[in-house]
Amino acid sequence: MTLAIVNGKVMVNGKLEDKNILIENGKITKITADKISSSDRLDASGKIVLPGLIDVHVHLREPGLTQKEDFKTGTMAAAAGGVTTVFEMPNTNPATTTAELLQKKRGLMKKKAVVNYGFYMGATADNINEIKRAENIAGVKLYTGSSTGDLLVTDANAIRDIFSSGKTIVVHAEDESLMQRNAEEHKDENDAEVHAKIRSGEVEAKAVREAVEIALTAANLKRLHFTHISAKESIEIIREAKKKIRSSCDVTPHHLFLTQEELKKQGNFAKMNPALRSSEDVDALWKAINSGVVDCIATDHAPHKKKEKETDYMEAPSGVPGLETMLPLLLDAVNKKMLTLQQLVKLTSENPARLFGIKNKVNLAVGADADLVIVDMNMEKEVENKKLFTKCKWSPFAGWKLKGWPTTTIVNGNVVYNEGKINNVKGKEVEFE
Ligand code: DOR
Ligand code: ZN
Repeated sequence: MTLAIVNGKVMVNGKLEDKNILIENGKITKITADKISSSDRLDASGKIVLPGLIDVHVHLREPGLTQKEDFKTGTMAAAAGGVTTVFEMPNTNPATTTAELLQKKRGLMKKKAVVNYGFYMGATADNINEIKRAENIAGVKLYTGSSTGDLLVTDANAIRDIFSSGKTIVVHAEDESLMQRNAEEHKDENDAEVHAKIRSGEVEAKAVREAVEIALTAANLKRLHFTHISAKESIEIIREAKKKIRSSCDVTPHHLFLTQEELKKQGNFAKMNPALRSSEDVDALWKAINSGVVDCIATDHAPHKKKEKETDYMEAPSGVPGLETMLPLLLDAVNKKMLTLQQLVKLTSENPARLFGIKNKVNLAVGADADLVIVDMNMEKEVENKKLFTKCKWSPFAGWKLKGWPTTTIVNGNVVYNEGKINNVKGKEVEFE
């Protein structure tokens, strides 16, 4: 079976060109200005063809938490958001902490995924041998501060061993002891606004600083990747760390487009870890995107049920969904000249593929896997909860009117999403170098 995408503007090597694309057996086999013939055709007139997004940070909740999301609904949300590859986090129930549990998770995903995927192993204080045994993983997720689930490692020696495992390390950086101290200090406040005080920017920066210190003495560090960086101070530390150790970072759309004021407006629906920050921090993140300190944008798609959020601050879980809103938010930002389309592609596709060493997906090029998204830069639409594919059916961006939306998503040469509808195609596990 062949598929041709014709009459679109295609992002090739950082340039938009009028080209037709031929896809055969899941791979791009031609990018040409010439006419091409094919059994199936997609007309992309007036639209732009980009490489599919690679989201290095999602929680799709299997096994054990399928009331919130499952591999089917989660990957459908990805497809609707132009995301063609997701890296699944380990804080499920049970947590993915052994090679055997990882294999089980693979089995579940294989049956349900409609986009491509990779997995993280979760680090504990004593599973270093399991980490070393795990094959073809995106990396190891280390929580230095507690969050959803019970994965947590605070001992510096254990952290050093994990850093020396030879795997890519993705760090959720929050300092557990400082966070506990802040919680104690604010224990009489029980509204969502206290979240930004307990999980302050300093809590994050302290953990980033300490992780860098430990990494400097780790024997066999492959890469230290700081995920969902939110504070100005953390950015400064990472900028310096990059000169000394192989390190990188990502930021989330919610930390780029929302401030802690949302905790006042949306309560627990704006509660996530790390917390939302001041507009000064948000400005620092945007500057860090433009100066190249930020390598990737990733969603931290972390769905929870509405009911779970509609409780007391203390009871409500942390996390917001993001797979369906990342690309429209960023396209809207491109329309507003906050970022270029080239930067968008680097941050959401090229850099994730390169830094995590995914085979065959670094560029939209002949020979690459046909993971693509077609976008309409002029389409204006509101984010509507009822139209979302995520099982939780809410978004902190509901009601936002955005200009620039994905219309069609292609995974391994198959159309998985087209104008609001999902096709039941099969995603594949990605291969890492
Ligand atoms: O807000 C968050 N939600 N932060 C995390 O670290 C975990 C995530 C979740 O799994 O709910
Ligand atoms: Zn997360």
